Amino acid sequence: MTARESPRPARRTRLVIDTDPGVDDAAAILLALASPELEVAALTTVAGNAALSQTTSNALRVLELAGAGAVPVAAGADRALAGWRRPGHGSVHGPDGLGGALPGEPAGSPVARHAVELIAGLADEGPLTLVAIAPLTNVALALAMHPDVCGKLERLVVMGGARLEGNVSAAAEFNIWADPEAAARVLGSGVPLTLLPLDVTHQALLTAGELHELSGGGRIGERLGAMVRHYGSEHAASYGDGAFAPLHDVLAVLALVDPGTIELEKAVVEVDTGSSASRGATLVSTRPGSPGVPALVGTRLDRRRFAELLVGRVGEIDAALAAGGREQAGVPAAAGTAAAADA
Ligand code: BDR
Ligand code: CA
Repeated sequence: MTARESPRPARRTRLVIDTDPGVDDAAAILLALASPELEVAALTTVAGNAALSQTTSNALRVLELAGAGAVPVAAGADRALAGWRRPGHGSVHGPDGLGGALPGEPAGSPVARHAVELIAGLADEGPLTLVAIAPLTNVALALAMHPDVCGKLERLVVMGGARLEGNVSAAAEFNIWADPEAAARVLGSGVPLTLLPLDVTHQALLTAGELHELSGGGRIGERLGAMVRHYGSEHAASYGDGAFAPLHDVLAVLALVDPGTIELEKAVVEVDTGSSASRGATLVSTRPGSPGVPALVGTRLDRRRFAELLVGRVGEIDAALAAGGREQAGVPAAAGTAAAADA
């Protein structure tokens, strides 16, 4: 069954993805576009895996790769709320954030509207889920400048944090470490929260065979496969295992597409916004009475199902494009209207 033939569920989840592409961001965006359960209303971009101009260009190029250039992209914050932040995230995503797999300039441009305003506008228009797979600066600004958005968001799904070891410091994961003040505000906003920390996202691995299958599915799979291979080789420097290329951000989309794939646990979460070595850490507790904000926290992944869905659905977009189809499963019919109006 192709993406175009997939039955549409009674009610598709309308979402905005706040992102800093990023190889795993690209994979998450492609899965969202390929999923009939979802309607991707917009992408908003933030500095993170690369500088803001680069992550915005990357978001546009990933959409265009999938034939979804009509989905609006709005650029947001180019730095953290407070304090200094190292630009980029080392080199695991390569200097351009996408492992050099999508060279050239995008055909389209971001809308002439700040990410914060686009998020607030979309929340006004109807039920909206916010999928945050990057430093949380845009989301914190949106909730601060438009406090009514908190009550309008159905759900916040965040890739971030670590119960055990971090990936930037011993304690902190990148998306939280990059802007801990923003993370503390967002997690404490009162919007129903699902948090996917490294403990579960480190399980989001493709085998060599699955990566081969992804790459053989068509132009989109081949480009995504090239990104993942580059990402894996860069991880080898940190983790000493070339096969280790966790596609963290995919889980934030997967949690909406196929909730049974990820085990979630009720917990409370706090962000360390201090200045010690554990700045940016997420403290997760299931002990009754512990301080923190309630969240559903990811613990285990059905890895095989994750791989089947990602590889299968990216292959479906490829098949739809090869057949001359332009409409993507997760793209709203009227996508581009907002972009045209704002430009
Ligand atoms: C997170 O940091 C980024 O490098 C990835 O895109 C992901 O969002 C993982 O720590
Ligand atoms: Ca990311």
